[in-house]
Amino acid sequence: MGLRRLEGEERLEIWAEKYRPKTLDDIVNRESIVRRLKGFIREGNLPHLLFIGPAGSGKTAAILALAHDFYGRYGEDYRPHVLELNASDERGIGVIKGRVKSFAHASTFGGVPFKLIIMDEADNLTRDAQPALRRIMEKFSTVRFCLIGNYQSKIIEPIQSRCALFFFPPYGDDVVAARVMYIAEREGVEITDGGVKAITDLSRGDLRKAINILQAASTLGIIDESTVYEVISRVQPDEVRKMVMAALNGDFLKARGLLRDLLIGRGLSGFDMVKQIYKELFNMPAIPEEYRLELLSELGDIDYRLTQGATDEVQLSAFLARLVLTGSKIIGRSEFL
Ligand SMILES: Nc1ncnc2c1ncn2[C@@H]1O[C@H](COP(=O)(O)OP(=O)(O)O)[C@@H](O)[C@H]1O
Ligand SMILES: [Mg+2]
Repeated sequence: MGLRRLEGEERLEIWAEKYRPKTLDDIVNRESIVRRLKGFIREGNLPHLLFIGPAGSGKTAAILALAHDFYGRYGEDYRPHVLELNASDERGIGVIKGRVKSFAHASTFGGVPFKLIIMDEADNLTRDAQPALRRIMEKFSTVRFCLIGNYQSKIIEPIQSRCALFFFPPYGDDVVAARVMYIAEREGVEITDGGVKAITDLSRGDLRKAINILQAASTLGIIDESTVYEVISRVQPDEVRKMVMAALNGDFLKARGLLRDLLIGRGLSGFDMVKQIYKELFNMPAIPEEYRLELLSELGDIDYRLTQGATDEVQLSAFLARLVLTGSKIIGRSEFL
């Protein structure tokens, strides 16, 4: 089987999504977290939640499974009752006053007691947005928040004290290995012990990363240690250049499609991507110097955020959006074509 490329709106079927647990019973390994969450369901009462942990530690999986089970008790599909804000959305006071407030204002329906607002990367909320969020938490009795972040310390204390706190440590190697073998079997992919170990070593407790590497390596036949290292080390300067060009030329959707192709289809890490993008921007004569410096320094920030556990795709999508903006400011855009 050859590598599938993304064309237009076509998407890879992403295994990390396909194997996302639907219910709390599908969640592996997080016994004490699941027990506490099930307690809330039994009581029919949900506190505000604060989920802290690194990328790929099951935070989103847990809240979506909880939402599924909680609203399921009312015979409801959870989606209409849930507002999911992703980190690529604006992180400032604007989104709090706008989308969050209007969702909070709308009344509940279907007999459910509360709506749920899931805010990913809540620890990136700006300083002025956090007190506004706290006021909304106090004011609306029919809304529950699930705030998700990498660092507890970046959430102001008055918000922390209103939330039930849950820690999601990185998964142990045994858990990652078991999940990789489970998915490989379901997908009919042959993988050696060495292949499992290589994936486990590379993903360091990040289950999404492990599943993405498995999926990328699966296109090369039987997976052993060398296939895994081959697939993650293949750098694709042409593909990265195409992605950067697409963004500078204002085609965000195409750029984002290429980004996903590289991250998921090829299993490149966020760090590999940052390195490649850096090289491309550094060498692109059509970018005026003042923009180049700004972009490179922003790329440095992203590199830092990735070391702090931020999600590759989210950070890099935001950077692509930034490139679109820069591209539109640069006169003579045809130079990028
Ligand atoms: N406890 C779990 N049981 C089964 N699969 C999991 C579990 N935690 C994570 N996964 C898998 O890993 C992927 C990434 O997990 P996710 O919850 O999105 O991580 P986070 O939100 O902490 O970055 C999920 O899509 C799912 O496939
Ligand atoms: Mg998440």
